[in-house]
Amino acid sequence: MTRRSFGALPQAEPGLEELQLSGWFYRLSPHVVLCTRRQPAGTEALAQIIHVRRGEAFPPGHPTTRLCLDLLREALAAASVHSLLDVGCGAGLLSLAAAALGVPRVVGVDISQAAVQITRENARDNGLAGSLQVVRGSTECVKSPFELVMGNLPWEVQMDKVSELNRLAASGGRLILSGFRDNQENLLIQSYQRLGWCLRRRLIKEFWHPELPADISFTWVAWWLEHKTF
Ligand SMILES: C[S@@+](CC[C@H](N)C(=O)[O-])C[C@H]1O[C@@H](n2cnc3c(N)ncnc32)[C@H](O)[C@@H]1O
Repeated sequence: MTRRSFGALPQAEPGLEELQLSGWFYRLSPHVVLCTRRQPAGTEALAQIIHVRRGEAFPPGHPTTRLCLDLLREALAAASVHSLLDVGCGAGLLSLAAAALGVPRVVGVDISQAAVQITRENARDNGLAGSLQVVRGSTECVKSPFELVMGNLPWEVQMDKVSELNRLAASGGRLILSGFRDNQENLLIQSYQRLGWCLRRRLIKEFWHPELPADISFTWVAWWLEHKTF
């Protein structure tokens, strides 16, 4: 992640993410930016600013969110998606991104009422409520399958949700998963492989901090999985 002082958002390639003194932004496409600032400087020419408020939910800008956004852009570029489920939507970043990139039916679920509330507000405030439905709860609330299922969830929740996410990804569907580290991958991938899933793409992001001991460093991981029938 590049750190910059307050200033205009540079015109740049999609996928660029920056943390500025006054907020975070992620460029979804040349003309669509997710942003925690209401009116970022230098964005007059941009077609669409998706302004994300955090409320009491998981904060925008986590490395695993960025990895999921990178994979979402890739998956949508590879094939169109008509329905997407975001399990653990937090402040709604992944759901909002999918809706802004043209997925017509997006459902976000979260066990946190604060997350559900702020995702609904973010959808409404950005004119995306027509394609984004938000439900308090988890996978058990959702019946029908989706072409793409995303889950940026802690490893323990991922392990618990394997059969549910497998059920909810339509036959021939795709999964984008993150929230776990490289030393937690093996058990999780084995669980999916047993159900016929294979890894199409793996992204990583090293975490370290100059003021922390070296053994505190680790690697965040994100996967794009496809079913073998795909
Ligand atoms: C790491 S945050 C990710 C938030 C958002 N997707 C993002 O990338 O910014 C995980 C979210 O999952 C929610 N969560 C945790 N366990 C869950 C479960 N079993 N079912 C649904 N949501 C859950 C939390 O409340 C939290 O909002």
